[in-house]
Amino acid sequence: MALRQSIIGVLGHVDHGKTKLLDKIRGSATQSGESGGITQAIGASIIPLQTVKKICGNLLDNKSDFSIPGLLFIDTPGHAAFSTLRKRGGSIADIAILVIDINEGLKPQTIESIEILKGSKTPFVIAANKIDLVPGYKQKDKLLLKNLNNQDPYVQEHIDTKLYEILGKLSELGLNSERFDRVEDYTKQVAIIPVSAITGDGIPELLMVLIGLAQKFLEENLKLHVEGNAKGSVIEVKETTGLGVTLDVIIYDGILKRGDKIMIGGLDKPIETRVKALLCPLPLNEMRDKKTKFKAQSEVTAATGVKISAPGIDNVIAGMPIQSYTDKIKTQVSEEIQKQVKDVVVETGDSGIIIKADTLGSLEALTFLLKEKEIPVRKARIGKISKKDITDAESNYDKNPLHSVILGFNVDRDAEVSGNQKVKIITNDIIYKIIEEYELWSEQQGKILEAKKLDDLIRPCKIQIMKNHVFRQCDPAICGCEIIEGKLTTSTRLMKEHKAISNVKSIQQEKESIKSITKGNQVAVSMDSIIIGRQVHEGDFLYSFIPENDFRKLKNLAKFLSKGEIELLKEIAEKMRKDNPMWGV
Ligand code: GTP
Ligand code: MG
Repeated sequence: MALRQSIIGVLGHVDHGKTKLLDKIRGSATQSGESGGITQAIGASIIPLQTVKKICGNLLDNKSDFSIPGLLFIDTPGHAAFSTLRKRGGSIADIAILVIDINEGLKPQTIESIEILKGSKTPFVIAANKIDLVPGYKQKDKLLLKNLNNQDPYVQEHIDTKLYEILGKLSELGLNSERFDRVEDYTKQVAIIPVSAITGDGIPELLMVLIGLAQKFLEENLKLHVEGNAKGSVIEVKETTGLGVTLDVIIYDGILKRGDKIMIGGLDKPIETRVKALLCPLPLNEMRDKKTKFKAQSEVTAATGVKISAPGIDNVIAGMPIQSYTDKIKTQVSEEIQKQVKDVVVETGDSGIIIKADTLGSLEALTFLLKEKEIPVRKARIGKISKKDITDAESNYDKNPLHSVILGFNVDRDAEVSGNQKVKIITNDIIYKIIEEYELWSEQQGKILEAKKLDDLIRPCKIQIMKNHVFRQCDPAICGCEIIEGKLTTSTRLMKEHKAISNVKSIQQEKESIKSITKGNQVAVSMDSIIIGRQVHEGDFLYSFIPENDFRKLKNLAKFLSKGEIELLKEIAEKMRKDNPMWGV
Protein backbone atom coordinates (compact mmCIF):
# COMPACT_ATOMS: atom_id res chain seq x y z
CA MET A 1 0.00 0.00 0.00
CA ALA A 2 1.28 3.42 -0.86
CA LEU A 3 2.10 5.98 1.80
CA ARG A 4 0.61 9.40 1.65
CA GLN A 5 2.44 12.61 2.47
CA SER A 6 2.93 13.32 6.08
CA ILE A 7 0.84 16.29 7.20
CA ILE A 8 2.77 18.82 9.23
CA GLY A 9 0.90 21.51 11.15
CA VAL A 10 2.72 24.58 12.37
CA LEU A 11 1.79 26.21 15.64
CA GLY A 12 3.13 28.78 18.02
CA HIS A 13 2.77 32.16 19.61
CA VAL A 14 2.03 35.20 17.47
CA ASP A 15 5.09 36.46 15.59
CA HIS A 16 7.37 33.65 16.62
CA GLY A 17 7.98 32.97 12.93
CA LYS A 18 5.64 30.22 11.72
CA THR A 19 4.96 31.74 8.32
CA LYS A 20 8.54 32.88 7.84
CA LEU A 21 9.80 29.42 8.62
CA LEU A 22 7.54 27.85 6.01
CA ASP A 23 8.48 30.61 3.60
CA LYS A 24 12.07 29.72 4.05
CA ILE A 25 11.33 26.07 3.60
CA ARG A 26 9.39 26.76 0.42
CA GLY A 27 11.79 29.34 -0.75
CA SER A 28 8.81 31.52 -1.54
CA ALA A 29 7.83 34.76 0.02
CA THR A 30 4.25 34.30 1.03
CA GLN A 31 4.74 36.53 4.00
CA SER A 32 5.51 39.58 1.92
CA GLY A 33 2.05 39.25 0.38
CA GLU A 34 0.38 39.21 3.80
CA SER A 35 -1.11 42.24 5.42
CA GLY A 36 1.11 43.23 8.30
CA GLY A 37 2.92 39.90 8.28
CA ILE A 38 0.01 38.33 10.13
CA THR A 39 -1.30 35.13 8.65
CA GLN A 40 -4.94 35.64 7.84
CA ALA A 41 -5.78 32.23 6.50
CA ILE A 42 -4.73 28.70 6.36
CA GLY A 43 -2.72 27.46 3.45
CA ALA A 44 -1.04 24.24 2.59
CA SER A 45 2.02 23.39 0.58
CA ILE A 46 3.46 20.11 -0.40
CA ILE A 47 7.22 19.65 -0.39
CA PRO A 48 8.11 16.59 -2.44
CA LEU A 49 10.62 14.17 -1.00
CA GLN A 50 13.11 15.12 -3.71
CA THR A 51 13.12 18.71 -2.50
CA VAL A 52 13.45 17.66 1.12
CA LYS A 53 16.39 15.50 0.15
CA LYS A 54 17.97 18.38 -1.72
CA ILE A 55 17.64 20.66 1.27
CA CYS A 56 18.94 18.04 3.69
CA GLY A 57 21.88 17.07 1.52
CA ASN A 58 24.39 14.87 3.30
CA LEU A 59 22.27 14.69 6.43
CA LEU A 60 20.08 12.05 4.82
CA ASP A 61 22.73 10.22 2.84
CA ASN A 62 22.91 7.03 4.82
CA LYS A 63 19.22 6.70 5.31
CA SER A 64 17.76 7.50 1.97
CA ASP A 65 15.25 4.64 1.79
CA PHE A 66 12.26 6.83 2.42
CA SER A 67 8.90 5.77 1.11
CA ILE A 68 7.04 8.94 2.06
CA PRO A 69 6.23 10.93 -1.08
CA GLY A 70 6.74 14.22 0.71
CA LEU A 71 5.59 16.58 3.41
CA LEU A 72 2.43 18.63 3.38
CA PHE A 73 2.90 21.77 5.43
CA ILE A 74 -0.07 23.63 6.79
CA ASP A 75 0.45 27.12 8.13
CA THR A 76 -2.12 28.11 10.70
CA PRO A 77 -2.71 31.60 12.02
CA GLY A 78 -2.54 30.22 15.54
CA HIS A 79 -3.21 27.26 17.69
CA ALA A 80 -6.96 27.72 17.49
CA ALA A 81 -6.94 27.33 13.75
CA PHE A 82 -4.82 24.27 14.22
CA SER A 83 -7.81 22.74 15.96
CA THR A 84 -9.75 23.29 12.78
CA LEU A 85 -7.56 20.59 11.31
CA ARG A 86 -9.62 18.08 13.11
CA LYS A 87 -10.78 14.60 12.59
CA ARG A 88 -12.42 12.20 14.94
CA GLY A 89 -10.24 11.59 17.96
CA GLY A 90 -7.40 13.85 17.00
CA SER A 91 -5.80 16.15 14.56
CA ILE A 92 -5.38 15.79 10.83
CA ALA A 93 -1.76 16.78 11.27
CA ASP A 94 0.43 13.75 11.70
CA ILE A 95 3.17 15.85 13.19
CA ALA A 96 3.40 19.43 14.30
CA ILE A 97 6.17 21.97 14.46
CA LEU A 98 5.86 24.16 17.50
CA VAL A 99 7.68 27.37 16.76
CA ILE A 100 9.18 29.16 19.75
CA ASP A 101 11.17 32.36 19.51
CA ILE A 102 14.32 31.28 21.35
CA ASN A 103 14.80 34.78 22.71
CA GLU A 104 11.28 35.02 24.12
CA GLY A 105 10.74 31.47 25.26
CA LEU A 106 7.30 30.05 26.07
CA LYS A 107 4.43 32.49 25.76
CA PRO A 108 0.76 32.01 26.65
CA GLN A 109 -0.12 30.84 23.15
CA THR A 110 2.86 28.47 23.14
CA ILE A 111 1.46 26.86 26.25
CA GLU A 112 -2.01 26.71 24.77
CA SER A 113 -0.55 25.13 21.65
CA ILE A 114 1.10 22.47 23.77
CA GLU A 115 -2.20 21.77 25.52
CA ILE A 116 -3.92 21.42 22.18
CA LEU A 117 -1.17 19.14 20.85
CA LYS A 118 -1.42 17.00 23.95
CA GLY A 119 -5.18 16.93 23.64
CA SER A 120 -5.08 15.77 20.04
CA LYS A 121 -2.14 13.45 20.75
CA THR A 122 -0.12 14.92 17.91
CA PRO A 123 3.62 14.24 18.10
CA PHE A 124 5.66 17.37 17.59
CA VAL A 125 9.09 18.89 17.34
CA ILE A 126 10.12 22.32 18.49
CA ALA A 127 11.77 24.84 16.22
CA ALA A 128 13.65 27.22 18.50
CA ASN A 129 13.51 30.05 16.00
CA LYS A 130 15.34 33.35 15.52
CA ILE A 131 18.76 32.13 16.64
CA ASP A 132 20.21 34.76 14.29
CA LEU A 133 18.96 37.38 16.75
CA VAL A 134 21.05 36.00 19.59
CA PRO A 135 23.64 38.73 20.25
CA GLY A 136 26.94 37.94 18.58
CA TYR A 137 25.54 35.14 16.44
CA LYS A 138 27.21 34.62 13.07
CA GLN A 139 26.56 32.02 10.45
CA LYS A 140 29.74 29.94 10.57
CA ASP A 141 28.76 26.75 8.82
CA LYS A 142 25.87 25.31 6.86
CA LEU A 143 25.70 22.37 9.24
CA LEU A 144 23.81 23.38 12.36
CA LEU A 145 25.85 21.53 14.97
CA LYS A 146 29.14 22.65 13.50
CA ASN A 147 27.75 26.13 13.25
CA LEU A 148 26.68 26.16 16.89
CA ASN A 149 30.00 24.75 18.06
CA ASN A 150 31.90 27.40 16.16
CA GLN A 151 30.07 30.32 17.72
CA ASP A 152 31.97 32.47 20.22
CA PRO A 153 31.78 30.90 23.69
CA TYR A 154 29.45 33.60 25.05
CA VAL A 155 27.08 33.05 22.12
CA GLN A 156 27.11 29.29 22.70
CA GLU A 157 26.46 29.89 26.36
CA HIS A 158 23.60 32.25 25.59
CA ILE A 159 21.95 29.74 23.25
CA ASP A 160 22.42 26.93 25.76
CA THR A 161 20.91 29.01 28.54
CA LYS A 162 17.90 29.83 26.39
CA LEU A 163 17.47 26.19 25.42
CA TYR A 164 17.68 25.12 29.05
CA GLU A 165 15.06 27.67 29.97
CA ILE A 166 12.77 26.18 27.35
CA LEU A 167 13.60 22.66 28.52
CA GLY A 168 12.77 23.64 32.08
CA LYS A 169 9.44 25.23 31.18
CA LEU A 170 8.51 22.19 29.09
CA SER A 171 9.31 19.88 31.93
CA GLU A 172 7.00 21.91 34.17
CA LEU A 173 4.34 21.11 31.58
CA GLY A 174 5.18 17.43 31.87
CA LEU A 175 7.21 17.18 28.67
CA ASN A 176 10.58 15.59 28.36
CA SER A 177 12.60 17.46 25.72
CA GLU A 178 16.16 17.59 24.43
CA ARG A 179 18.20 19.26 21.73
CA PHE A 180 17.63 17.06 18.69
CA ASP A 181 21.14 15.60 18.61
CA ARG A 182 20.82 14.50 22.22
CA VAL A 183 17.45 12.82 21.83
CA GLU A 184 17.62 9.12 22.57
CA ASP A 185 14.03 8.14 22.00
CA TYR A 186 11.81 10.20 19.73
CA THR A 187 8.69 8.57 21.12
CA LYS A 188 9.46 9.81 24.62
CA GLN A 189 11.35 13.04 24.06
CA VAL A 190 10.45 16.17 22.17
CA ALA A 191 13.30 17.24 19.89
CA ILE A 192 14.31 20.90 19.89
CA ILE A 193 15.98 22.19 16.75
CA PRO A 194 17.54 25.65 16.87
CA VAL A 195 16.71 27.40 13.61
CA SER A 196 16.61 30.74 11.87
CA ALA A 197 13.86 31.42 9.40
CA ILE A 198 15.94 34.28 8.05
CA THR A 199 19.34 32.68 7.47
CA GLY A 200 17.92 29.20 7.01
CA ASP A 201 20.21 27.74 9.63
CA GLY A 202 18.84 24.55 11.12
CA ILE A 203 16.19 24.05 8.45
CA PRO A 204 17.85 20.96 6.91
CA GLU A 205 18.10 19.50 10.41
CA LEU A 206 14.46 20.34 11.12
CA LEU A 207 13.35 18.59 7.93
CA MET A 208 15.61 15.65 8.69
CA VAL A 209 13.99 15.17 12.08
CA LEU A 210 10.49 15.60 10.62
CA ILE A 211 10.95 13.13 7.82
CA GLY A 212 12.62 10.66 10.15
CA LEU A 213 9.73 10.93 12.58
CA ALA A 214 7.17 10.53 9.85
CA GLN A 215 8.89 7.56 8.35
CA LYS A 216 9.62 5.75 11.57
CA PHE A 217 6.61 6.26 13.69
CA LEU A 218 3.78 7.16 11.42
CA GLU A 219 4.19 4.72 8.58
CA GLU A 220 1.14 2.80 9.73
CA ASN A 221 -1.06 5.87 9.81
CA LEU A 222 0.14 7.15 6.49
CA LYS A 223 -1.03 4.11 4.57
CA LEU A 224 -3.31 5.40 1.92
CA HIS A 225 -6.82 4.10 1.72
CA VAL A 226 -7.14 4.16 -2.03
CA GLU A 227 -10.37 2.24 -2.10
CA GLY A 228 -12.03 4.23 0.64
CA ASN A 229 -13.96 7.44 0.30
CA ALA A 230 -12.13 10.72 0.76
CA LYS A 231 -12.03 12.20 4.22
CA GLY A 232 -11.08 15.73 5.01
CA SER A 233 -11.67 18.88 6.97
CA VAL A 234 -12.90 22.24 5.76
CA ILE A 235 -10.25 24.82 6.50
CA GLU A 236 -11.90 27.83 4.97
CA VAL A 237 -15.09 28.83 3.26
CA LYS A 238 -14.55 31.70 0.87
CA GLU A 239 -15.62 33.53 -2.19
CA THR A 240 -13.43 32.80 -5.22
CA THR A 241 -13.69 35.01 -8.28
CA GLY A 242 -15.75 33.36 -10.96
CA LEU A 243 -16.68 30.41 -8.79
CA GLY A 244 -18.73 31.87 -5.97
CA VAL A 245 -18.38 30.23 -2.57
CA THR A 246 -15.68 27.56 -2.47
CA LEU A 247 -14.25 25.35 0.24
CA ASP A 248 -10.58 25.03 1.06
CA VAL A 249 -10.27 21.48 2.27
CA ILE A 250 -7.44 19.35 3.53
CA ILE A 251 -7.93 15.76 2.42
CA TYR A 252 -6.15 13.40 4.76
CA ASP A 253 -7.41 10.10 3.47
CA GLY A 254 -8.66 8.52 0.26
CA ILE A 255 -9.27 9.86 -3.21
CA LEU A 256 -11.69 12.58 -4.21
CA LYS A 257 -12.95 12.80 -7.80
CA ARG A 258 -14.80 15.42 -9.75
CA GLY A 259 -18.47 14.46 -9.69
CA ASP A 260 -18.20 12.62 -6.35
CA LYS A 261 -21.08 12.94 -3.92
CA ILE A 262 -19.86 14.68 -0.78
CA MET A 263 -21.30 15.23 2.65
CA ILE A 264 -20.21 18.05 4.95
CA GLY A 265 -21.01 18.40 8.65
CA GLY A 266 -23.78 20.89 9.42
CA LEU A 267 -25.17 22.29 12.64
CA ASP A 268 -28.38 20.32 12.39
CA LYS A 269 -27.81 17.87 9.60
CA PRO A 270 -25.12 17.16 7.02
CA ILE A 271 -25.04 19.17 3.82
CA GLU A 272 -25.14 16.90 0.75
CA THR A 273 -23.80 17.99 -2.58
CA ARG A 274 -21.61 16.98 -5.51
CA VAL A 275 -18.10 18.10 -6.48
CA LYS A 276 -18.31 20.44 -9.44
CA ALA A 277 -14.62 21.28 -9.68
CA LEU A 278 -11.44 20.37 -7.87
CA LEU A 279 -8.76 23.01 -7.91
CA CYS A 280 -5.24 22.33 -6.81
CA PRO A 281 -2.31 24.53 -6.09
CA LEU A 282 0.89 23.57 -7.81
CA PRO A 283 3.62 22.10 -5.63
CA LEU A 284 5.64 24.72 -3.78
CA ASN A 285 2.79 27.14 -4.12
CA GLU A 286 0.51 28.35 -1.45
CA MET A 287 -3.23 27.83 -1.68
CA ARG A 288 -4.15 31.07 -0.03
CA ASP A 289 -1.72 33.16 -2.01
CA LYS A 290 -3.83 35.43 -4.18
CA LYS A 291 -1.37 35.11 -7.02
CA THR A 292 -1.49 31.33 -6.98
CA LYS A 293 -2.83 29.81 -10.12
CA PHE A 294 -5.10 26.87 -9.56
CA LYS A 295 -5.26 23.91 -11.83
CA ALA A 296 -8.46 21.96 -12.32
CA GLN A 297 -8.03 18.27 -11.57
CA SER A 298 -10.21 15.28 -12.22
CA GLU A 299 -9.13 13.73 -8.92
CA VAL A 300 -6.94 14.35 -5.92
CA THR A 301 -5.26 11.91 -3.60
CA ALA A 302 -4.52 12.35 0.09
CA ALA A 303 -2.81 14.13 1.57
CA THR A 304 -3.47 17.40 -0.11
CA GLY A 305 -5.15 20.72 0.08
CA VAL A 306 -7.86 21.26 -2.49
CA LYS A 307 -10.34 23.95 -3.35
CA ILE A 308 -13.77 22.52 -3.96
CA SER A 309 -16.44 24.20 -5.98
CA ALA A 310 -19.92 22.74 -5.46
CA PRO A 311 -23.52 23.93 -5.34
CA GLY A 312 -25.26 24.64 -2.03
CA ILE A 313 -22.23 25.16 0.16
CA ASP A 314 -22.83 28.76 1.20
CA ASN A 315 -23.61 27.84 4.78
CA VAL A 316 -20.72 25.50 5.40
CA ILE A 317 -18.77 26.26 8.56
CA ALA A 318 -14.99 26.01 8.73
CA GLY A 319 -13.70 23.08 10.70
CA MET A 320 -16.48 20.79 9.55
CA PRO A 321 -15.66 17.25 8.48
CA ILE A 322 -16.17 16.36 4.85
CA GLN A 323 -16.39 12.94 3.18
CA SER A 324 -17.20 11.58 -0.21
CA TYR A 325 -19.71 8.75 -0.29
CA THR A 326 -21.59 6.27 -2.38
CA ASP A 327 -25.24 5.47 -1.76
CA LYS A 328 -24.26 2.20 -0.11
CA ILE A 329 -22.45 3.92 2.76
CA LYS A 330 -24.51 7.09 2.88
CA THR A 331 -26.19 6.44 6.25
CA GLN A 332 -22.96 5.40 7.87
CA VAL A 333 -21.09 8.45 6.59
CA SER A 334 -23.89 10.74 7.66
CA GLU A 335 -23.86 9.33 11.18
CA GLU A 336 -20.09 9.51 11.39
CA ILE A 337 -20.07 13.11 10.31
CA GLN A 338 -22.80 14.33 12.60
CA LYS A 339 -21.22 12.52 15.54
CA GLN A 340 -18.12 14.63 15.01
CA VAL A 341 -20.21 17.78 15.09
CA LYS A 342 -22.12 16.70 18.19
CA ASP A 343 -18.86 16.09 20.02
CA VAL A 344 -18.12 19.77 19.80
CA VAL A 345 -21.44 21.58 19.56
CA VAL A 346 -23.04 20.82 22.89
CA GLU A 347 -26.05 21.92 24.81
CA THR A 348 -26.62 20.37 28.19
CA GLY A 349 -29.08 21.28 30.89
CA ASP A 350 -26.32 21.30 33.48
CA SER A 351 -24.76 24.27 35.11
CA GLY A 352 -21.93 26.00 33.30
CA ILE A 353 -21.02 28.87 31.05
CA ILE A 354 -22.01 29.55 27.44
CA ILE A 355 -19.44 29.71 24.68
CA LYS A 356 -19.70 30.80 21.07
CA ALA A 357 -17.12 30.61 18.30
CA ASP A 358 -16.88 31.08 14.57
CA THR A 359 -15.75 27.63 13.49
CA LEU A 360 -16.02 24.10 14.71
CA GLY A 361 -12.30 24.02 15.37
CA SER A 362 -12.15 27.23 17.34
CA LEU A 363 -15.12 26.11 19.38
CA GLU A 364 -13.36 22.86 20.10
CA ALA A 365 -10.16 24.62 21.09
CA LEU A 366 -12.01 26.89 23.48
CA THR A 367 -13.97 23.99 24.96
CA PHE A 368 -10.81 22.01 25.36
CA LEU A 369 -8.91 24.73 27.16
CA LEU A 370 -11.84 25.47 29.45
CA LYS A 371 -12.00 21.80 30.31
CA GLU A 372 -8.32 21.91 31.24
CA LYS A 373 -9.18 24.68 33.67
CA GLU A 374 -12.18 22.78 34.94
CA ILE A 375 -14.57 25.52 33.88
CA PRO A 376 -17.87 23.81 33.04
CA VAL A 377 -19.59 24.58 29.75
CA ARG A 378 -23.31 24.07 29.35
CA LYS A 379 -23.70 25.36 25.84
CA ALA A 380 -21.11 25.46 23.07
CA ARG A 381 -22.35 26.72 19.73
CA ILE A 382 -21.21 28.29 16.51
CA GLY A 383 -22.34 31.74 15.52
CA LYS A 384 -22.90 35.27 16.77
CA ILE A 385 -23.93 35.96 20.34
CA SER A 386 -27.72 36.19 20.26
CA LYS A 387 -30.55 37.32 22.49
CA LYS A 388 -31.29 33.69 23.19
CA ASP A 389 -27.75 33.27 24.56
CA ILE A 390 -28.35 36.18 26.93
CA THR A 391 -31.59 34.62 28.18
CA ASP A 392 -29.87 31.29 28.59
CA ALA A 393 -26.98 32.82 30.49
CA GLU A 394 -29.36 34.78 32.70
CA SER A 395 -31.16 31.62 33.70
CA ASN A 396 -27.82 30.44 35.10
CA TYR A 397 -27.59 33.36 37.47
CA ASP A 398 -29.51 31.91 40.37
CA LYS A 399 -27.69 28.59 40.22
CA ASN A 400 -24.27 30.15 40.04
CA PRO A 401 -23.71 33.83 39.25
CA LEU A 402 -20.19 33.02 38.12
CA HIS A 403 -21.68 30.96 35.31
CA SER A 404 -23.99 33.56 33.87
CA VAL A 405 -21.35 34.52 31.38
CA ILE A 406 -20.90 34.20 27.61
CA LEU A 407 -17.46 33.77 26.09
CA GLY A 408 -17.21 34.59 22.40
CA PHE A 409 -14.20 33.58 20.36
CA ASN A 410 -13.88 35.26 16.98
CA VAL A 411 -17.57 36.19 17.02
CA ASP A 412 -19.56 39.41 17.17
CA ARG A 413 -22.85 39.90 18.90
CA ASP A 414 -26.19 40.55 17.27
CA ALA A 415 -26.89 44.26 16.99
CA GLU A 416 -29.30 44.57 19.91
CA VAL A 417 -27.38 42.27 22.24
CA SER A 418 -25.47 43.58 25.22
CA GLY A 419 -24.46 42.33 28.62
CA ASN A 420 -26.45 43.34 31.67
CA GLN A 421 -26.23 43.25 35.44
CA LYS A 422 -26.65 39.53 35.44
CA VAL A 423 -24.87 38.52 32.25
CA LYS A 424 -21.22 39.13 31.51
CA ILE A 425 -20.03 38.95 27.89
CA ILE A 426 -16.35 38.48 27.07
CA THR A 427 -15.20 38.41 23.46
CA ASN A 428 -11.78 38.34 21.88
CA ASP A 429 -9.99 36.76 18.96
CA ILE A 430 -7.24 35.36 21.14
CA ILE A 431 -8.32 32.46 23.32
CA TYR A 432 -5.94 33.01 26.17
CA LYS A 433 -7.12 36.58 26.53
CA ILE A 434 -10.71 35.37 26.83
CA ILE A 435 -9.81 32.87 29.49
CA GLU A 436 -7.59 35.35 31.28
CA GLU A 437 -10.38 37.91 31.37
CA TYR A 438 -12.91 35.35 32.52
CA GLU A 439 -10.65 34.23 35.34
CA LEU A 440 -10.06 37.80 36.43
CA TRP A 441 -13.74 38.60 36.27
CA SER A 442 -14.79 35.51 38.16
CA GLU A 443 -12.20 36.18 40.83
CA GLN A 444 -13.45 39.73 41.33
CA GLN A 445 -17.06 38.65 41.10
CA GLY A 446 -16.38 35.88 43.59
CA LYS A 447 -15.09 38.45 46.05
CA ILE A 448 -18.13 40.64 45.61
CA LEU A 449 -20.42 37.67 46.14
CA GLU A 450 -18.51 36.64 49.22
CA ALA A 451 -18.70 40.11 50.62
CA LYS A 452 -22.46 39.97 50.08
CA LYS A 453 -22.61 36.84 52.20
CA LEU A 454 -21.55 39.02 55.13
CA ASP A 455 -24.90 40.75 54.94
CA ASP A 456 -26.65 37.63 56.12
CA LEU A 457 -24.42 37.13 59.13
CA ILE A 458 -24.55 38.58 62.66
CA ARG A 459 -21.58 40.91 62.81
CA PRO A 460 -19.42 41.53 65.89
CA CYS A 461 -20.43 44.56 67.93
CA LYS A 462 -19.48 45.89 71.37
CA ILE A 463 -21.38 48.64 73.18
CA GLN A 464 -21.17 50.23 76.61
CA ILE A 465 -24.08 51.40 78.70
CA MET A 466 -23.26 55.00 79.48
CA LYS A 467 -23.27 56.29 83.05
CA ASN A 468 -26.22 58.52 84.04
CA HIS A 469 -28.07 57.77 80.84
CA VAL A 470 -30.66 55.28 81.93
CA PHE A 471 -33.99 56.67 80.74
CA ARG A 472 -36.15 53.71 81.65
CA GLN A 473 -35.28 50.60 83.64
CA CYS A 474 -37.59 48.09 81.97
CA ASP A 475 -40.48 47.28 79.58
CA PRO A 476 -38.55 48.19 77.57
CA ALA A 477 -35.30 49.26 79.15
CA ILE A 478 -33.95 52.38 77.45
CA CYS A 479 -30.45 53.71 77.96
CA GLY A 480 -27.71 55.68 76.27
CA CYS A 481 -25.04 53.47 74.75
CA GLU A 482 -21.72 54.11 73.08
CA ILE A 483 -20.72 51.89 70.17
CA ILE A 484 -17.20 50.80 71.06
CA GLU A 485 -16.55 48.57 68.04
CA GLY A 486 -18.40 47.20 65.01
CA LYS A 487 -21.92 48.05 63.99
CA LEU A 488 -25.11 47.83 66.08
CA THR A 489 -28.25 46.89 64.19
CA THR A 490 -31.85 46.66 65.38
CA SER A 491 -32.85 43.14 66.35
CA THR A 492 -29.23 42.25 67.18
CA ARG A 493 -29.20 39.81 70.05
CA LEU A 494 -27.00 41.16 72.85
CA MET A 495 -25.11 39.26 75.50
CA LYS A 496 -23.29 40.06 78.70
CA GLU A 497 -20.24 37.90 79.21
CA HIS A 498 -21.43 34.87 77.24
CA LYS A 499 -25.10 34.89 78.18
CA ALA A 500 -27.66 36.29 75.77
CA ILE A 501 -29.85 38.81 77.53
CA SER A 502 -32.04 40.70 75.07
CA ASN A 503 -32.62 41.79 71.50
CA VAL A 504 -32.18 45.37 70.47
CA LYS A 505 -35.72 46.64 70.01
CA SER A 506 -34.91 49.99 68.56
CA ILE A 507 -32.14 52.52 68.18
CA GLN A 508 -32.62 56.27 68.34
CA GLN A 509 -30.24 59.02 67.47
CA GLU A 510 -31.32 62.61 68.07
CA LYS A 511 -34.84 61.28 68.62
CA GLU A 512 -34.94 59.68 65.18
CA SER A 513 -35.30 55.91 64.85
CA ILE A 514 -32.44 54.35 62.91
CA LYS A 515 -31.70 50.82 61.76
CA SER A 516 -28.00 50.68 62.49
CA ILE A 517 -25.13 52.68 63.87
CA THR A 518 -21.36 52.31 63.74
CA LYS A 519 -18.40 52.64 66.07
CA GLY A 520 -17.81 55.89 67.92
CA ASN A 521 -21.45 57.03 68.08
CA GLN A 522 -23.72 57.45 71.05
CA VAL A 523 -27.36 56.45 70.74
CA ALA A 524 -30.39 55.52 72.81
CA VAL A 525 -31.04 51.79 72.73
CA SER A 526 -34.21 50.05 73.86
CA MET A 527 -34.18 46.40 74.96
CA ASP A 528 -37.31 44.62 76.03
CA SER A 529 -36.38 41.64 78.18
CA ILE A 530 -34.06 43.10 80.78
CA ILE A 531 -34.15 45.29 83.81
CA ILE A 532 -31.33 47.78 84.15
CA GLY A 533 -29.94 47.49 87.65
CA ARG A 534 -30.62 43.77 87.79
CA GLN A 535 -29.08 41.86 84.80
CA VAL A 536 -27.12 44.84 83.55
CA HIS A 537 -25.69 47.96 85.08
CA GLU A 538 -24.41 51.33 84.00
CA GLY A 539 -20.89 51.01 82.55
CA ASP A 540 -21.43 47.40 81.45
CA PHE A 541 -20.11 46.19 78.11
CA LEU A 542 -22.57 44.26 75.94
CA TYR A 543 -21.66 42.24 72.87
CA SER A 544 -23.56 40.96 69.87
CA PHE A 545 -24.48 37.33 70.44
CA ILE A 546 -23.02 35.53 67.40
CA PRO A 547 -24.32 32.04 66.58
CA GLU A 548 -21.45 29.56 66.36
CA ASN A 549 -22.13 28.93 62.66
CA ASP A 550 -22.03 32.60 61.81
CA PHE A 551 -18.81 32.91 63.74
CA ARG A 552 -17.21 30.21 61.61
CA LYS A 553 -18.38 31.89 58.41
CA LEU A 554 -17.12 35.23 59.65
CA LYS A 555 -13.72 33.72 60.25
CA ASN A 556 -13.63 32.66 56.59
CA LEU A 557 -14.69 36.10 55.47
CA ALA A 558 -12.21 37.84 57.77
CA LYS A 559 -10.66 39.65 54.81
CA PHE A 560 -13.79 41.75 54.58
CA LEU A 561 -13.73 42.73 58.27
CA SER A 562 -11.82 45.60 59.83
CA LYS A 563 -8.92 44.98 62.19
CA GLY A 564 -11.08 46.15 65.07
CA GLU A 565 -13.85 43.74 64.13
CA ILE A 566 -11.41 40.84 63.93
CA GLU A 567 -10.04 41.70 67.39
CA LEU A 568 -13.57 41.91 68.70
CA LEU A 569 -14.40 38.49 67.21
CA LYS A 570 -11.49 37.07 69.17
CA GLU A 571 -12.74 38.76 72.34
CA ILE A 572 -16.23 37.31 71.82
CA ALA A 573 -14.82 33.83 71.12
CA GLU A 574 -12.84 33.97 74.37
CA LYS A 575 -16.02 34.74 76.28
CA MET A 576 -17.95 31.92 74.61
CA ARG A 577 -15.14 29.46 75.24
CA LYS A 578 -15.40 29.93 78.99
CA ASP A 579 -18.41 27.60 78.85
CA ASN A 580 -17.43 25.58 75.80
CA PRO A 581 -13.70 25.46 75.01
CA MET A 582 -14.43 24.13 71.52
CA TRP A 583 -16.85 26.93 70.61
CA GLY A 584 -16.44 28.07 67.01
CA VAL A 585 -13.42 25.86 66.39
P1 GTP B 1 1.40 34.99 13.09
O1 GTP B 1 1.04 34.31 11.81
O2 GTP B 1 0.97 36.38 13.17
O3 GTP B 1 1.04 34.20 14.30
O4 GTP B 1 3.02 35.11 13.14
P2 GTP B 1 4.08 34.08 12.62
O5 GTP B 1 4.43 33.16 13.73
O6 GTP B 1 3.67 33.46 11.33
O7 GTP B 1 5.35 35.02 12.43
P3 GTP B 1 5.97 35.54 11.07
O8 GTP B 1 6.54 34.42 10.30
O9 GTP B 1 4.99 36.42 10.41
O10 GTP B 1 7.19 36.35 11.67
C1 GTP B 1 7.02 37.46 12.52
C2 GTP B 1 8.19 38.41 12.38
O11 GTP B 1 9.38 37.80 12.84
C3 GTP B 1 8.45 38.81 10.95
O12 GTP B 1 8.84 40.15 10.96
C4 GTP B 1 9.60 37.93 10.52
O13 GTP B 1 10.39 38.52 9.53
C5 GTP B 1 10.37 37.80 11.82
N1 GTP B 1 11.09 36.53 11.89
C6 GTP B 1 10.57 35.30 11.76
N2 GTP B 1 11.54 34.37 11.89
C7 GTP B 1 12.69 35.03 12.10
C8 GTP B 1 14.04 34.61 12.33
O14 GTP B 1 14.40 33.44 12.38
N3 GTP B 1 14.96 35.61 12.52
C9 GTP B 1 14.63 36.93 12.51
N4 GTP B 1 15.60 37.80 12.69
N5 GTP B 1 13.37 37.33 12.30
C10 GTP B 1 12.41 36.42 12.11
MG1 MG C 1 1.96 33.54 10.32
